[in-house]
Amino acid sequence: MNDYFGYTGKTVVVTGAASGMGKALTEILVDLGAHVYALDRVEPRVPSVTKSILANLGSKDSIDAAFAQIPLQVDAFFGVAGISGVHNSFLETLTVNFIANKYITDTYLVDRIAHGGSLVFVTSNGGLRWETPSVREELEPFTRGDSWNVLVQLAREFEAEFGSVPGSLGYILSKRLLNFWIAEQVAPLSDLRKIRINAVLPAMTISGMLPEFAEMKGGQDAVESDLGPAGRLAESVEMAKVLAFLGSDLASYMSGTHLSVDFGMNALQIAGLAPDRLGWTLRGVLSRQPTA
Ligand SMILES: NC(=O)c1ccc[n+]([C@@H]2O[C@H](COP(=O)([O-])OP(=O)(O)OC[C@H]3O[C@@H](n4cnc5c(N)ncnc54)[C@H](O)[C@@H]3O)[C@@H](O)[C@H]2O)c1
Repeated sequence: MNDYFGYTGKTVVVTGAASGMGKALTEILVDLGAHVYALDRVEPRVPSVTKSILANLGSKDSIDAAFAQIPLQVDAFFGVAGISGVHNSFLETLTVNFIANKYITDTYLVDRIAHGGSLVFVTSNGGLRWETPSVREELEPFTRGDSWNVLVQLAREFEAEFGSVPGSLGYILSKRLLNFWIAEQVAPLSDLRKIRINAVLPAMTISGMLPEFAEMKGGQDAVESDLGPAGRLAESVEMAKVLAFLGSDLASYMSGTHLSVDFGMNALQIAGLAPDRLGWTLRGVLSRQPTA
């Protein structure tokens, strides 16, 4: 039988491997024969992983300690971990969801990802319309930030403009930033060693994070009333399957793809067949509304 995915014997790193999409992905990758380094702030418990590593993506020192335990050559990296921002500060949300992923890539992956390797990040349908000029203008200073400390400082300065910014807006900003930054990385990573970089943009998915999203939307009923053409929420494994595909040899000509896994919700919005409420800027919203 052909090994179409090409994961057999490959070294793969997954963040967020203890729960939801990251756990489901880790299980698939182990089944497909990869040597998986499973990283999370909670002990990842997937049988047969090569190594489980406890790490807090909110801390640069913790990331450095984790990468000291990861091989010097990695074939595929999956940045799945994230927080909703519902019970987190703006800075923490931006740090875990964006700054950590950029830092890991700049500091470790640029040197360690093998020729023809792959990076896949879980962003969100909540980060759609990142390419709108007014939104992109808001994102540009952050993707230019070239170190952990500079990015933290930029986040602090942004928040200081408004007194405070809710973590939930930090979530939107972080996912837009990932989407934009991924597009920016396509050419440099290809020039480097034909490395591919892609994003999976989930719609609402049953995972550890769902209760917080339900809280943000105003309860489980509000979630159930907005299910789109699928008529149900996604399962974590349905995101994991797409992640496994994008990181694999099956997707060898795919880079810079922002793949909405949403059963057509984004397609309906861009076709004008469903309301599109995503093109706003944070500054626009924050300057109109008093923040908590
Ligand atoms: N569930 C949804 O509806 C939904 C929708 C769009 C995008 N997403 C994104 O999907 C990704 C996966 O989340 P999920 O839905 O599987 O939720 P989840 O809560 O089940 O999994 C997230 C994992 O990330 C880990 N994590 C969180 N903060 C961390 C930190 N500081 N350091 C290390 N690990 C940390 C958690 O421990 C957990 O194992 C996230 O990036 C999330 O933003 C989720």
